[in-house]
Formats: sequence, structure tokens, C-alpha cells
Amino acid sequence: MTEETVKIAEKIDIHRGLKGVYFDRSAVCYIDGRAGELRYRGYSIHDLAQSSTFEETCYLLINGELPTKAQLNQFDVELKAARALPAPVLDVIKAVRTAHPMDVLRTAVSALAAFDPEVADNSREATLRKGVRLTSQVPMIVGAHAQIRAGKEPIAPDSKLGHAANFLYMVTGKVPTADTAKLMDTDMILHAEHGANASTFAARVVAGTEANLHAAITAAIAALSGAAHGGAAENVMHMAKEVGAPENAAEYVKKKRANKEAVMGFGHRVYRAEDPRARHMKAGVEKLSREMGQPQWYQILEALVQAMKPYSRLGVNVNVDFYAGVVYYLNGIPADLFVPIFAVGRMPGWLVSVQEQLENNILIRPLTLYNGPEPRTYVAIDER
Ligand SMILES: CC(C)(COP(=O)(O)OP(=O)(O)OC[C@H]1O[C@@H](n2cnc3c(N)ncnc32)[C@H](O)[C@@H]1OP(=O)(O)O)[C@@H](O)C(=O)NCCC(=O)NCCS
Repeated sequence: MTEETVKIAEKIDIHRGLKGVYFDRSAVCYIDGRAGELRYRGYSIHDLAQSSTFEETCYLLINGELPTKAQLNQFDVELKAARALPAPVLDVIKAVRTAHPMDVLRTAVSALAAFDPEVADNSREATLRKGVRLTSQVPMIVGAHAQIRAGKEPIAPDSKLGHAANFLYMVTGKVPTADTAKLMDTDMILHAEHGANASTFAARVVAGTEANLHAAITAAIAALSGAAHGGAAENVMHMAKEVGAPENAAEYVKKKRANKEAVMGFGHRVYRAEDPRARHMKAGVEKLSREMGQPQWYQILEALVQAMKPYSRLGVNVNVDFYAGVVYYLNGIPADLFVPIFAVGRMPGWLVSVQEQLENNILIRPLTLYNGPEPRTYVAIDER
């Protein structure tokens, strides 16, 4: 390196992991990590979790305003009309059925590109139409795979059931109670959108190259599958089982920290305060584990929260995935379907972020600062 390039390099600030970097503007999601606030299109996550439905929140995210009754009915009709998978995509799911459900989901969404008549049309209207179709098809894939890998035929969707209830029905084969359906609906509202998280960013990077929506969503699913992002809920359940009893929680945390390992379901890139979504699932775990005669799960989680209290001053608090996993478990959902549930919920967030990217598109292409070898002479293979 010349003296000049060394001087330039010294002045460059590197933001590893793009921590704290703003790369664009967005009118969709407001997050205040210090205050622990989250809003979709200006509406508090607490109001939406308590009073909205996934369908209504989805409409809000996509269109920017809450729907009238007529608009919501129409949107519901569109979502339900798209509850179908082409037969060749079901064959793809059958062919890869032994893979992790996230790998199956990624493969099936990628395959859907071959069957969507508007796949190459990146206009706003076509992107939204494709996005609504994918919002319905993603849970169809997860539900169909759950049955296929158990050696059964996929369960046909039930048009009387809403998005969350129908999803549970297709996965478990049982029509959920109103309470269970509401809890899953709330869970999907809480997961629907979250700014420039890793999977959404991945989707925007792909959309920024003018690739199509299916390509962007496939990338988002790939990014979500990792333990540091979507995988946490699944790992929290493994952790709760490993801890086994509330009195073991403190020792478990001590060991994890001694090995410099993260305790799953704690910490967040953005939140320094408690993740505002967590409390809505916490109430669900408390109620469900009591009703099902398995109060130990709630007690184990609360003991872990106590054991993690000292880390709270570092900004490490419970996140949304901490309680979600136990809710899914108590509903009889296998642990490897926890991340796909996150994907089902996040679909509208991915869609609207891709749409924002396309509306004011720019290729996302940052830089890395070279720190490899100095220039050197190529030596022919026989002379090495
Ligand atoms: C989500 C996550 C990847 C964020 O990582 P990050 O932005 O690099 O974390 P921070 O900068 O806030 O970390 C600050 C400190 O707290 C520690 N910390 C962060 N998360 C922790 C956790 N879950 N358990 C214990 N300590 C943790 C870090 O090791 C760091 O300590 P150090 O400065 O001594 O290295 C990380 O918190 C994590 O792996 N959590 C567990 C997985 C999870 O629940 N993911 C779901 C997110 S919704």
C-alpha cells in the first residue's frame, strides 16, 4: 500500500455489521431502541397487538392506512383466493421433505417464481399483487410440508378460518380454539414488520438489483433461517428443556456466560430497553402453561429472566422470541416450525420493504477496506 492509501484507510470508519448505520428512509416502521417503542405506520404495536388482526395489520402495512370494513373484507377475499399451491410446487416440497422446514420454505418460494404469471413485472401494482399471493402461499407451504413429512396429504385450507387460525389448522390438523387462534394472530402481528432487520435488508439488497419479488423473498427466508435472527424461538425451547426446572436457571446462565455464549431470546441489535413485543407473548405463555397444567415452562422462563437481570444494564433484555417458542410448543407445534412461523408473520414486512426499495431504487453496494497481501508476482504452478 502506498503512504497515501494508508492515510486514506486510517480515516475510514468501518461499521462492522452496519451497526448504527442508516442506509435509507422508510415510512413504515418506527423503532426507538432506547425507549422500547415500536410503531407500524404510526400506530403503536401495543394497540395493534391488543385490537387489530393480522389481516388488518397487513393491509395497514401495505397501504399505509387502516382499512374500512369494506376494504378489509375485500382484502380478506384476495388473501383467501390465493390460498393454493401449484401441483409442481407440492412435488418440490415432497422431493425435499426431509430438509429443515426453512430450507423447504426457501426452496418452495423460489419454485413458485416459475408459476406466478407476473413474476417479471416489478411495477408497484404487480409487486403488491404478487406479495398478497405470497403472503397466502407461505403458510400454505409450511402447512403442506408439515403434513407431507408426516406421510399425509396436505390439509385443504378452510375459507371460514382467518389467516392465523387456518395456518394452525393446516399445520396441526385441528381447528384451534378462539383463544389459541387469537394468540397466533397476535404473534403474527408482532412479527409482521421490523425495519431494516437482517432478512428485510437481504430482501432490499436483492430488490435493489431489480431482481423480482420471489428472488427477494427467497433471500429474506435464507437470512431469517439463522440462529441470530429467526432461529432464536426454536433455540429458546431447546434451552427451556435443557434448563429443566426453574432452580437450574441461574447455573445455566452462569455457564453460558463463562463460555461467552449468548443466552437465546435475550439481546437485540436495536433494543436497549425490553423489546416491546415480548410482553404480549409473555401473557400468552403464562395463561397457556397454567391452563395446560404445565406451569413449569412459564416458571423456567421467568427464572431465566431473573438470572439475566445483571445484563439488563448492558442493554440485554428479553426479545420477542423469548416467549413465542413456548407458546408454539404448548400448541403442539414441532420446534423446527418456529422459524417458519416467523416467516409467515414477516411476509407483509418483507413485501412493503421491497416495495419501498423499488419506488426509489438504488443499487445497494457498500465497500470493504482491503487488508490483504501487498502486490505480489504470480508464480506459475510448476514453479511453486
Ligand atoms: C441478537 C444479537 C445477535 C444482537 O447482537 P449484538 O447487536 O452484537 O449485541 P450487543 O451489541 O447488544 O451486545 C452487547 C453485549 O451484550 C452481550 N450479549 C448480547 N446478547 C446476549 C445474550 N443473548 N446473552 C448474553 N449476552 C449477550 C454481548 O456479548 C455483548 O457483550 P460484550 O460487549 O462483552 O461482547 C444477540 O443479542 C444474540 O445473539 N441474541 C441471542 C439470539 C436471539 O435471541 N436472537 C433474536 C433476536 S430478535
